[in-house]
Amino acid sequence: MTDIAELETSIRADIEQAADEAGLEAVRVASLGKKGSISDVMKTLGKMSDEERKVQGPALNALKAAITQAINDRKEILKRAAMEIRLASEKTDVTLPVRQSPSEAGRIHPISQVMDEITAIFADMGFSVAEGPEIETDYYNFTALNFPEGHPAREMHDTFFMQEDEKGERKVLRTHTSPVQIRTMENQEPPIRIIIPGKTYRCDADATHSPMFHQLEGLVVDKKSNIANLKWVLEEFCKSFFEVDNVNMRFRPSFFPFTEPSLEVDIQCDRSGNEVKFGEGTDWMEILGCGMVHPNVLRAGGLDPDVYQGFAWGIGIDRIAMLKYGMPDLRAFFDADVRWMKHYGFRPLDLPTLFGGLSQ
Ligand code: DAH
Repeated sequence: MTDIAELETSIRADIEQAADEAGLEAVRVASLGKKGSISDVMKTLGKMSDEERKVQGPALNALKAAITQAINDRKEILKRAAMEIRLASEKTDVTLPVRQSPSEAGRIHPISQVMDEITAIFADMGFSVAEGPEIETDYYNFTALNFPEGHPAREMHDTFFMQEDEKGERKVLRTHTSPVQIRTMENQEPPIRIIIPGKTYRCDADATHSPMFHQLEGLVVDKKSNIANLKWVLEEFCKSFFEVDNVNMRFRPSFFPFTEPSLEVDIQCDRSGNEVKFGEGTDWMEILGCGMVHPNVLRAGGLDPDVYQGFAWGIGIDRIAMLKYGMPDLRAFFDADVRWMKHYGFRPLDLPTLFGGLSQ
């Protein structure tokens, strides 16, 4: 017959010696487990005489309860000790700088930045922003803008055509933001003062051309707007955008089907160093096209050209972004290279404003 007191002493000694929770678990299995020492003794109960069982039964149950309690107590002690060790070893240095939040680490793409800068400038002059679809009908992209069917000017645009739809109509990816001029005139009574930033598409690709690029259209329509107003608006825009006190601009006669007269604008610059500088130098750089809105275009927009007149312009956003921020290759704009974005991108919370500075 096993001496229960002896068994208890030996198990208690093992419990005391268990150095960690895993060791303690091993003691539990070796004593209370199915094949443990206490269970082994339990199995002998059946073979005992009635008197013997009356004594040994309760004694074994008491032993089981006492050992379970002892194991739980020891577990608590070991847990606390393990926590003490962790607390002593895992110190937090609260003076360490916090990790950058996404709003700090993220960057605004230069195209978005430049669109925001341009919007801030024109908002200050009382313009609002208009938008239109990128998949456009031939009518809005060309016909309504006074490109007659079969006119060679349509070919200047290297158009992407969509497949014919069920009605036999072939939509296009808009080749410029000018169609939104018509859409706005159809829906809005003059006076109209809008800018239209957006994506445009032409089948062309090299270091300065991308099949998808960005334009900014401007349109003013009222009863007496004229070329002098157009010149003033563009001059104020260039000074604000390039953040210089003075720009010299040159207006050259040109041709666009939707304006009459049509002009192209160059700004004076100095290209002798590494960077292009504006407001000085002896070079000229073309930056935009503009003109007085053609009477046929006003008519297509539902306006009477004997009552209303207006001016419009179109600028390549990518191009002026490259000029302002000295980015040499347009293709990098669309590579989604994080290193490039880190270098040329803008901090997300520094919103461009005229009073706070456009680009800081
Ligand atoms: N739509 C022209 C282009 O993509 C740019 C342009 C020129 C727009 C003159 C205008 C304008 O509104 O008056 O080449």
